[in-house]
Amino acid sequence: MILLVEDSPTAAHFCEKCLKEEGYQVVTTGLGQQAMEFLNWAAPAAVVLDLVLPDASGMEVLKYAQKLHPDLPVIVVTATNLVDVAVESMKRGAYDFLVKPFPAERLAITVRNALLRKALIEEVAELRQVVVGPSRFHGFIGQSTAMQAVYRVIDSVATSKASIFIRGESGTGKELAAQAIHKASPRHMKPFIALNCAAIPHDFLESHLFGHVKGAFTGATADRIGAVKAAQDGTLFLDEICEMPLELQAKLLRFLQTGEIIPVGSHKAEIVDVRIVAAANRDPLEEVHTGDFREDLYCRLHVIPLELPPLREREEDVMMLAQHFLAKCNAEEGKHFAGFDQDVTALLRRYDWPGNVRQLENIVRNMVVLNDGETATAAMMPGDLQRFAEKSLWPANQNTEDLMLSEPSPCDTIKPLWLVEKEAVMLALDFTNQDIPQAAALLQLSPSMLYRKLQAWKTQGAVA
Ligand SMILES: Nc1ncnc2c1ncn2[C@@H]1O[C@H](COP(=O)(O)OP(=O)(O)OP(=O)(O)O)[C@@H](O)[C@H]1O
Ligand SMILES: [Mg+2]
Repeated sequence: MILLVEDSPTAAHFCEKCLKEEGYQVVTTGLGQQAMEFLNWAAPAAVVLDLVLPDASGMEVLKYAQKLHPDLPVIVVTATNLVDVAVESMKRGAYDFLVKPFPAERLAITVRNALLRKALIEEVAELRQVVVGPSRFHGFIGQSTAMQAVYRVIDSVATSKASIFIRGESGTGKELAAQAIHKASPRHMKPFIALNCAAIPHDFLESHLFGHVKGAFTGATADRIGAVKAAQDGTLFLDEICEMPLELQAKLLRFLQTGEIIPVGSHKAEIVDVRIVAAANRDPLEEVHTGDFREDLYCRLHVIPLELPPLREREEDVMMLAQHFLAKCNAEEGKHFAGFDQDVTALLRRYDWPGNVRQLENIVRNMVVLNDGETATAAMMPGDLQRFAEKSLWPANQNTEDLMLSEPSPCDTIKPLWLVEKEAVMLALDFTNQDIPQAAALLQLSPSMLYRKLQAWKTQGAVA
């Protein structure tokens, strides 16, 4: 079906007749508002759009159509004196334009070609899925070989109850993978419960895991259901499992062997059926060697290992992810960015992403929130990325004389990055009364990442 938006009755009649003769169904309106309302619930194969309408500009309708249906071909119809606007509409994504008066044959050919092109694009996308593999998978975006391997592991283990151990740097999507495993499994209608072992003080972890009964300890004023029981018949995601204290590891092992839990302060065992997915940023085997992680628990949990590749090793996914986050942030912030300019694209592809996908998402969000426009430019990128760009574009053969003659650098006021980072972390912790999850949210980090930073500083003696 073709949507024809034309307010002149003679022109509308002419186009309608021509399109119907070609075998298309045609829906006609002379009002821009009506056309936009129609697009809210219908998806025509193409739109033939007059640029001058009594109640809205054709450009407005074009923009609206593209927002709702990005692949919908729009053919713009214009009078001779508006050819400039028609050209502009093509820059904004219209498929083609026709200058009035045009022969019926010209309209028929243009519509036919538009539909043919759309069909070909869809076919290529389908074939690409078959040949290369999917670019989206239960919340994951990415078509790199490394991510295809991840999707395959998740698909093949989905139906089993075997424990899975996910490893990967911060922000690579470990939690997303745990959710994907749950969604792909027959347990998807049952709960998915995540427990971050690093974000809960050790003294409370057992009660968060297995629950407690009223009066079990000071402050236990009522019974509490633990994460294991809350995940009954579903999936329990134990994040940062290496942070679990050894005594609790023994109790978790007992649960894995018997299927029974005993809430803190109770003597009554209860049977619970859950699938365990564990994750860690560190290598659990190293923890086993240092005696911080029980070997028997490691063997129980590490039945199927799943390694999430860092973003720097899947450069081909970067722009797909960036576009995805751009569309998501546009929708959340009511902005209209269509894409990134060449400099930004080169920069994003080259950057080494220490914070992986989370960092990319934060950078795109930052840029969308603070700026307006249609194209994201390098000047809109946060400072650290701009510095990276300057550094990596610095000519390798610049001679020392040039450097000496350059402006004196503001070295005195620049603090080392680790110090700036530590100050920001301490400020967030003070502000939230040492609440790690809240401080992490303010810093736009995961609680685990924050916890790891604190642990590292403690080890180096940099914090109390
Ligand atoms: N391939 C991906 N496609 C789309 N979004 C992704 C992808 N990978 C990660 N994300 C998003 O990036 C963010 C970080 O992912 P997630 O929390 O799963 O990482 P993580 O490995 O658990 O990090 P941490 O170790 O810091 O807890 C989330 O918002 C997630 O939705
Ligand atoms: Mg995580």
